[in-house]
Amino acid sequence: MGSIVGDSNAVSQPISLTSWIDSGLLLKTTMTSSDSQSWHILGAGAVGSLWANYLLRNKQPVCILCRSPEQLDAFWDNPFLTLVVDGQRYKSQPKTELFSSNQPIHKLLVTTKSYDTLEAIQSVAHRIDRSTQIVVLQNGMGNQQSVAELFPNSAVYAGTTTEGAYRTGPHQVVHAGRGKTWFGPFNKAANDQGGEPLQALLDLDLVSDYEDSIHTRLWQKLAINCAINGLTAIHDCRNGKLLESPYLEEMIQLCDEVELVAAKLNQPLFPHPLIDAAKGVAKATGENLSSMLQDVRHQRQTEISSINGFLCRQAEQLSIPVPHNQQLTERVLKLSAEQDQ
Ligand code: PAF
Repeated sequence: MGSIVGDSNAVSQPISLTSWIDSGLLLKTTMTSSDSQSWHILGAGAVGSLWANYLLRNKQPVCILCRSPEQLDAFWDNPFLTLVVDGQRYKSQPKTELFSSNQPIHKLLVTTKSYDTLEAIQSVAHRIDRSTQIVVLQNGMGNQQSVAELFPNSAVYAGTTTEGAYRTGPHQVVHAGRGKTWFGPFNKAANDQGGEPLQALLDLDLVSDYEDSIHTRLWQKLAINCAINGLTAIHDCRNGKLLESPYLEEMIQLCDEVELVAAKLNQPLFPHPLIDAAKGVAKATGENLSSMLQDVRHQRQTEISSINGFLCRQAEQLSIPVPHNQQLTERVLKLSAEQDQ
């Protein structure tokens, strides 16, 4: 099938459905994309698809931003998103638009992989103005700051989540593990507006809270990811394996360095030592494959540069040696590079 002319494929096709369809959601798709309530999703991977589905289930208009006409075409072939949760399947229909559309974006949820974020958001920059609310919900750190610098007049929020989800197809996501999400203001404009613009996100059937000190939540997640993800990737092991020697010693070294950097930045982490928190997460998720190990196994780029790489950049600015995080970052980067060959 050729590319769709125009930038929206809100047309629904006749399709025989065995799954549940909320007809209210189908009606919603007739609204114009410039509707100021519409959540535009930038990055419809596992996290983006999860939020798109839950927003649609809550009768919130959603528009998936598509990078290419081919991505848009895929929605013409199958205009539905499927959510699998608790043994049930739910279908709903988002609107779609190309990045290059000229429709203004009022509410933007950025769920790209960390290494894709800046290029993706720059591709829709012409659609963002001071009235746009931007929510960056992703792993790692660094991008939140860059987005806030790129759009100083827009309200920029950050989010961090422990929800577990994975995709089983381009339009299907499995909500595998219930977690918790925090959203909070990342710049002055967001601070001034407070939590009200995020109400639709906070009202979903996902446990989430508005958090004034979102920096600390981001750092907590970063610190845990620094301790667990890279190690599981280089040792090709499940999270629980890190509780055993010699991996545990490596995790202790990583945690010590993270704590040094955080302390120098006056950034609180946990009320107890980071290693205890990391061991707790490794135990609770013992059977899981970390997101980074999954990326490596699927020969995808990893987020190491926004996790241990971010920590190393902070440490360099503060002249703090962090050799273990440095070596780990290099080893994971090398692992991905080897797979590219
Ligand atoms: O990235 C991940 O996989 C998770 O955040 C965690 C908890 C570190 C490991 O499963």
